[in-house]
Amino acid sequence: MIQPMIQPVIQPVVPPMIQLRDVRKSYSRGTESVLACAVDRLDIAAGEQVALIGRSGTGKTTVLHILAGILRPDQGSIEAVGRRLDQMSESARDRHRGRHIGMVYQTFNLLQPFTALENVLLGALFGRGAGSDSRARAEALLQQVGLGDRMHHRPRELSVGQVQRVAICRALVNDPELILMDEPLGNQDRATGGQVLDALLQLATRGKKTVVMVTHDPESAKRMQRTVDLATLRGATPVVAAAGGSS
Ligand SMILES: Nc1ncnc2c1ncn2[C@@H]1O[C@H](COP(=O)(O)OP(=O)(O)OP(=O)(O)O)[C@@H](O)[C@H]1O
Ligand SMILES: [Mg+2]
Repeated sequence: MIQPMIQPVIQPVVPPMIQLRDVRKSYSRGTESVLACAVDRLDIAAGEQVALIGRSGTGKTTVLHILAGILRPDQGSIEAVGRRLDQMSESARDRHRGRHIGMVYQTFNLLQPFTALENVLLGALFGRGAGSDSRARAEALLQQVGLGDRMHHRPRELSVGQVQRVAICRALVNDPELILMDEPLGNQDRATGGQVLDALLQLATRGKKTVVMVTHDPESAKRMQRTVDLATLRGATPVVAAAGGSS
């Protein structure tokens, strides 16, 4: 008897961009230990655009810094852009971040002596290396976020919202696969914030980038494909939210 041929079922496999397992990070202050973040499990697929929400002090910045390889947790495994960050040295993590990850810090972290354009170009220098097209890309990004006429201003000559937009351009200048943003629109008015987010998401969608954006703004969160509440990722050990924290 002739057996019918069994067709293998081929399912598209979306590679994980981020996988966290049993991650814990505490800080010690004298005899006291502060649990800064606890994530049992977090999976984000390549190309996903995710809003990370949670009350103030629950560990959103800490998680982003762990994902960027800036902070090493006390325990747990972290995979980001194809590498196990928990198994890498600090300098290897720094190189990996420079090449593959764009980070917008909650505190911006621009260098004061340099102009907006130079700050964005420094992002390229510390990443894949500033090539001849870096300047054109940096200028195009600054123009896209409405800073075409502020490129040669230093951070102290810019408004807080403008500095924040420069920080966004610096994170994008290397065309990273993974974009991590810590309340990147916190200092924008609604119209400007909406325009910057439009530009960001367009860029991310076109380039199939993965985006994790911390936000306290429900409207911004709605624009992302998925919202992850940090409180739902925590393990048996509770994380105590700061009193009076928002959203
Ligand atoms: N260097 C540190 N030493 C001690 N505790 C710290 C340190 N950094 C952060 N923490 C504590 O870890 C917890 C998480 O901080 P984190 O900055 O990740 O919160 P967050 O969710 O980003 O808050 P926000 O929404 O206010 O930005 C907080 O309770 C904070 O006090
Ligand atoms: Mg924070």
